[in-house]
Amino acid sequence: MSPVYFENTFDRLCEAYGKSSIRSKRVCIVCDTNTAPYYAEAVEKAVSGSFDEVYTFAFKAGEEYKNLSSIEELYAFLLEHDFDRRDSLLALGGGVVGDMTGFAAATYKRGIPFVQVPTTLLAQVDSSIGGKTGVDFMGYKNMVGAFHMPEFVYENPTVLKTLDDDQFASGMGEVLKSALLADEEFFEWILDNMDGITDHEPQTILEMVRRTANIKLSIVERDPTEKGERALLNLGHTIGHAIEKYMNFSMPHGKCVALGCIAAAAISEKRGLLDTAELFEIRDMCVAFDLPMFADGINNAEILSITKSDKKMAAGRIRFILLDRIGHAFICDDLTDEELLAGIKFINGDEISYED
Ligand SMILES: NC(=O)c1ccc[n+]([C@@H]2O[C@H](COP(=O)([O-])OP(=O)(O)OC[C@H]3O[C@@H](n4cnc5c(N)ncnc54)[C@H](O)[C@@H]3O)[C@@H](O)[C@H]2O)c1
Repeated sequence: MSPVYFENTFDRLCEAYGKSSIRSKRVCIVCDTNTAPYYAEAVEKAVSGSFDEVYTFAFKAGEEYKNLSSIEELYAFLLEHDFDRRDSLLALGGGVVGDMTGFAAATYKRGIPFVQVPTTLLAQVDSSIGGKTGVDFMGYKNMVGAFHMPEFVYENPTVLKTLDDDQFASGMGEVLKSALLADEEFFEWILDNMDGITDHEPQTILEMVRRTANIKLSIVERDPTEKGERALLNLGHTIGHAIEKYMNFSMPHGKCVALGCIAAAAISEKRGLLDTAELFEIRDMCVAFDLPMFADGINNAEILSITKSDKKMAAGRIRFILLDRIGHAFICDDLTDEELLAGIKFINGDEISYED
């Protein structure tokens, strides 16, 4: 698995390159039109000790540009500058830039090396790790892609200071998900460090990013191709994706995941696996990090139907992730429609009928 470095500075990027197998003298920094003005220059400077030639290419920012046309523009840029298989790419941006740069690296001249320098909280704790790359196609998310591991991931959480509040909250959805599924002590740590996190205290954020990224890293290391345990990372994603689709992607991904986690916790509680107090603790924690507690106005039956058509079905059954305690998740293959509906109703604020 790729090494992951956590530093509150870009100054050690050269050191990371020194430890990697990248030996070419040319690199292309790939960013987007939002991250370029903030960080392209600092990263160009930071890598100038490792490369003789540093090029920069910017995609248009936004999920709507996560497509093959953008990839073609990058291929054309690389060809124009005679990039060959020894040269490498550096993805500087959120999950969109990381997924697209990784996909271009996987396919340009049958594969060139790349590194990830993620700049959103979501990308730092989730999308930059694990080697999944790709683009959206014909309205389907991540429909075309490849597994291509970065040579290394370099995480500098100080860049999160320019991220807007909504995007930061979205990343927090993945942070809470990770703690819930794998690490009770980390869940407690988040509660204890709530002020440091919401005040964006650099050392606290660094620690939070490191611990969350390491959860994904260790799961992906044990199950790189998603044959088993990696599915646990989908906690909150089945109902979360349905809400995301239902809302036409107007709510950021991590916020939908947080709602999905609350729904999964509600189903777990109904099965007697979590205490009611724990369920409410999970829900209240979301509020503290500006994550939604309710998906106001959703149509329960429609969310159920979208959930059931989601790709996370195995042989006609939903593979759903439940909690048997805070800090431990498991794959459930026998979830009933009634249970799913109860979880959906809970996040629709329909607690009375949930209790009935
Ligand atoms: N590969 C994986 O395993 C994986 C996992 C989860 C999500 N994803 C993908 O990740 C994407 C979502 O990623 P995201 O949430 O990072 O979205 P994003 O990449 O669109 O970034 C969100 C916004 O923040 C801007 N931005 C990025 N860094 C910034 C910074 N430091 N300061 C100011 N603005 C900044 C971006 O330009 C963009 O406008 C989706 O396409 C999703 O499919 C991939």
